[in-house]
Amino acid sequence: MSASVAFLHGFAQALSALALYPEGHAARERALDAVYEKLRDLLAEAPRPTFSFLGDEVVYQDRPLRDLRAWDWSRRLAEIGIQRLRFDSSVSRDELEEFLDLVNARLAFKDVDSAEARPTRPSGIRYGLIGIEGQQERLDAAPTATIRFTLQEEAETVRWIHEELTQSGGLPLAEAEAVVRGLSVAMHGDQQLVLPLLRLREFDEYTTTHSINVSVLAMALAEWVGLGARDVRAFGVAGLMHDLGKVRVPADILNKAEKLTAEEREVMAAHPAEGAKIIIATEPDLDLAAVVAYEHHIMINGGGYPRLTYARECHAASRLVHVCDVYDALRTDRPYRDAWPSDKILAYIEERAGVEFDGEMAHAFTRMIREWEPAVTALEESDPLPEEPVSADSAPAG
Ligand SMILES: [Fe+2]
Ligand SMILES: [Fe+2]
Repeated sequence: MSASVAFLHGFAQALSALALYPEGHAARERALDAVYEKLRDLLAEAPRPTFSFLGDEVVYQDRPLRDLRAWDWSRRLAEIGIQRLRFDSSVSRDELEEFLDLVNARLAFKDVDSAEARPTRPSGIRYGLIGIEGQQERLDAAPTATIRFTLQEEAETVRWIHEELTQSGGLPLAEAEAVVRGLSVAMHGDQQLVLPLLRLREFDEYTTTHSINVSVLAMALAEWVGLGARDVRAFGVAGLMHDLGKVRVPADILNKAEKLTAEEREVMAAHPAEGAKIIIATEPDLDLAAVVAYEHHIMINGGGYPRLTYARECHAASRLVHVCDVYDALRTDRPYRDAWPSDKILAYIEERAGVEFDGEMAHAFTRMIREWEPAVTALEESDPLPEEPVSADSAPAG
């Protein structure tokens, strides 16, 4: 058996072992030792072994591996966004373990409940999709694949969550947490952090794309300001759920292009409190998400809504989500205004720092976006995702 085939067999065995046994279990360690040894054998032969998983076929360097025709794992890896996999000679056993965990997390995506530690990015391993949306050139230029997620699955799950909530009144929590974990994986898939932001294609997808984007931005900013993994994920859940109360706002108000009447405005302004109620009724432990839902339209100067009876500072998570919320709302075409260019939004956020936005959060956010602008990946969804939009919500005027 060639070293490449031996490695892939070891790789598949290790994936199974890691899925079955907890950290520290002897069987897991043995499987890891075995696959790492096979990887070292392979690296002794070739400094940068590269595999492509093309459905039925596995290609090693430039040669199809005949022994692995119709190898089931080729299809499964391709399906979770790993069509191309390359190892650098520097790869460590720990990195390989992290990568295998990440693969398992993606494979198990649907079944992940309140996810534990976020998969990180192993530096000696590159992987991603091949030839999607103009990425081919980049792949050819450097043998480094760039991860490309469509976030299709996450978007569909969020849409389903909103439907479920509208119809049954129940909030499917495990699914929401799985979405956040999936978003986190998408953000960390490649060597450096990317901000996978969805671009709205149809107005009625707004709540789905907006919830996902605010979740991604909230996690990115939380990570940027140095919060730990657990808090980052909690902020991601809060970002995802911040507008849940909109399921109680009629679509014609959410979609209205003209100025809202006083009554409509009142209905709209109830969405923070409604959202907080929904969250608390489902899971009292989600107090952070409930607080954020309640406070995300309150300005630092006390303006916005709902009005607080007694002036007090909002939770840091609410102040953080508020900035992310406005940024995403403004970068999106709405029935009542066109999308703003990023520069204009950042200038607006800076100008309103200390008035509408928490000054520190606002500046951290604009610095982060400016630094990461090249890593902001605007994802076009291949299929429109029906779902209900917003009106005067996060717009500065509203
Ligand atoms: Fe909102
Ligand atoms: Fe929002």
